[in-house]
Amino acid sequence: MGFFSKDIKTMDDLFVHTLSDMYYAEYQIVKALPDMIKKATDATLKQGFQTHLGETKNQVKRLEKVFELHGVEILGVDCPAIDGIIEEADDVASEVDDKNVLNAALIAAAQAVEHYEIARYGTLIAWAKQLGRADCASLLEQNLKEEKAADSKLTALAESNINRKAA
Ligand SMILES: [Fe+2]
Ligand SMILES: [Fe+2]
Repeated sequence: MGFFSKDIKTMDDLFVHTLSDMYYAEYQIVKALPDMIKKATDATLKQGFQTHLGETKNQVKRLEKVFELHGVEILGVDCPAIDGIIEEADDVASEVDDKNVLNAALIAAAQAVEHYEIARYGTLIAWAKQLGRADCASLLEQNLKEEKAADSKLTALAESNINRKAA
C-alpha cells in the first residue's frame, strides 16, 4: 500500500489485490495443514486433512495460472484474516487435553478456514466474470468446488462421529 496514494484504484486492481490475498492464504494453509494432520487422532479426519493438503497445493497452482491468464505478476499480499484464523486454531488446539475434544476443535478450526475461502472465492468469481475473465472464473470455480466439498465432509464427520465422541 502506498503512503501518499491509494494503490487500489479500479475494480481490476481490487480483483488482483484479492487474488493476491487468496494466494497468500492458500500458501499459509499449505504450511498449517501438516500440523493439523499430526494433531488429529481420528483416522478419517487425518485422511481428510491429508487429501485437502493435496488439493490445496493444486489450488495454489490454479491461482498462479489465474495471475498468468490475467497478465499480472504472481504476488502474495499479507492476509491478516487467515493468519488470525490459523493462529486461533493453534491457540485452541494447544489448550485442549482430551484427544476426542481436540478432533472436534480441529474440525471447527478447519471449517473457519473453509468458510473464509468460500467467501473469498465467491467474490473473486463474481468479479472475474464482471471483468470479462470467464477463463479466470472457471479456474476459481474449481477451487471453490473443492472448498465446499471439504467443508461438507467436515460437517458430516463432526455430526456423524466426532462430536459424539467428544461430548
Ligand atoms: Fe484452499
Ligand atoms: Fe480449503
